[in-house]
Amino acid sequence: MLTITILVTVIAQNVQTSATRASRPHILFVLADDFGYHDIGYHGSEIQTPVLDRLALSGIRLENYYVQPICTPSRSQLMSGRYQIHTGLQHSIIWPTQPNGLPLNSPTLADKLREAGYSTHMVGKWHLGMYKKDYLPTSRGFDTYFGYLQGSEDYYTHSICDGDLCGTDLRNNMDPVSYENGHYSTHLFTQKAIDIVNNYDVAKPLFIYLAYQAVHGPLQVPDRYMDKYHHIKDKDRRIYAGMVTAMDEGIGNLTEALKAKGLWNNTLLVFSTDNGGQILDGGNNWPLRGWKGSLWEGGVHGVGFVCGSLLDEKMHGTITQSLIHISDWFPTLVSLAGGSLNGTQPLDGVNQWETIKSGYTSPRKELLHNIDPLSPKSGKPAFNGTFDTSVRAALRIGDWKVITGYPGNGSWIPPPNIDTTLNHHEVKYSTHEDTSKNVWLFNIAKDPYEHVDLSKAYPSKVKEMLDRLAYYQSTAVPCQYPPEDPRANPALHGGFWGPWE
Ligand SMILES: *[C@@H]1O[C@H](CO)[C@@H](O)[C@H](O)[C@H]1NC(C)=O
Ligand SMILES: *[C@@H]1O[C@H](CO)[C@@H](O)[C@H](O)[C@H]1NC(C)=O
Repeated sequence: MLTITILVTVIAQNVQTSATRASRPHILFVLADDFGYHDIGYHGSEIQTPVLDRLALSGIRLENYYVQPICTPSRSQLMSGRYQIHTGLQHSIIWPTQPNGLPLNSPTLADKLREAGYSTHMVGKWHLGMYKKDYLPTSRGFDTYFGYLQGSEDYYTHSICDGDLCGTDLRNNMDPVSYENGHYSTHLFTQKAIDIVNNYDVAKPLFIYLAYQAVHGPLQVPDRYMDKYHHIKDKDRRIYAGMVTAMDEGIGNLTEALKAKGLWNNTLLVFSTDNGGQILDGGNNWPLRGWKGSLWEGGVHGVGFVCGSLLDEKMHGTITQSLIHISDWFPTLVSLAGGSLNGTQPLDGVNQWETIKSGYTSPRKELLHNIDPLSPKSGKPAFNGTFDTSVRAALRIGDWKVITGYPGNGSWIPPPNIDTTLNHHEVKYSTHEDTSKNVWLFNIAKDPYEHVDLSKAYPSKVKEMLDRLAYYQSTAVPCQYPPEDPRANPALHGGFWGPWE
């Protein structure tokens, strides 16, 4: 009996392996920048996203989905499958003049998909290091790259200043390009992704990582995209809404190109934001608390969905409340691609494919939001012999979330059409908050908007979670946050931001 079972298992595995190889899906990963929880149509936004809504409603919406509070951290976890405490990128972002990057000993998602036989392409924002050529996308698993290396820039001129240092930031593979001046980035990047689809030659499955500049500041969009938003009185919000609409249209154009090429029926599309919306640049996360940059839900509870015919039919049009994190895409997509996780550093992401494809319970029970040893400390340690609550950190275990240190602005900001009297440039830190307070406990399932701090009511739960934070901290590598390097100056590199070492 045992022999038969083993034999059947072996046959089943062989069949599965060859079937997986034959039909390996194309993978399109679209990452939006600073796209808020309240900024997608299906969350009740006043911003219209017909394409995203249609795609999401044909697939599975991830409604217990988490990203990191800011750009570099989310991207580093997407590309490495590892928490920041394990890559040294715990603190802040990579600034233009900092000689820093996602460590080269962490293979990227693109490295692994390329190793599995994929043709790998990236378009858009990198933000994972550029001081040496070794850190650029085409050194990190991408066959081709078109985009910019830093966190933000002008949507038309593709240039950015860091203090007095100014330069263009746009590249084709390794080479700087200046000929696209005047071309709005959402159009430019969409077209580059469409070109990849149109040039596709059937030999290998495709991986396209389209990391839009949209909808990060600066607030810029061609006028026609604001036509349907005259009723939005707040000017920032109106421009932002137009930027979202342009991105929505771009994703529609790209899916049409995949259809025209006959690839769409075998494409898995993942759509994700990189962090919560930036209130000061038109974004909104209502009814979540806080925004981009904070450890409140408004900073980390992200918009995300997956669609494609690879999902079981019963999953089409569903919502999952399973806990899923941006670090999970690495093992999930590598396994879907039939690749191998050999040679990676220990991963913090978990394979969520069965959760997404068939609705199985997520294997993830815990989520370390971050531990940031360089952020200024706040208050005094609340307990002895465990994690120091003056340090900025947050951890989720099941439905429970603990936050320590200074979490960032914890205001609830309604969208401007609900409260037009609010001037977003005058948002203040919620005045009722006691600044010496440095520990909060929430039951996120019962209280997703973080209204009721339970830390006083459940001290033993707090202690248990702090002990777990102390364990995570014991596994952390030192934080890398090097000083500015004047050699980064674009004036020394033909007017371009790029490698200087
Ligand atoms: C989408 O395609 C239409 C038709 O070609 C074009 O006018 C529009 O600019 C495209 N939008 C984006 C964002 O690329
Ligand atoms: C996708 O469509 C193509 C052409 O229409 C067809 O040959 C192929 O079998 C389809 N693939 C899947 C997975 O349905």
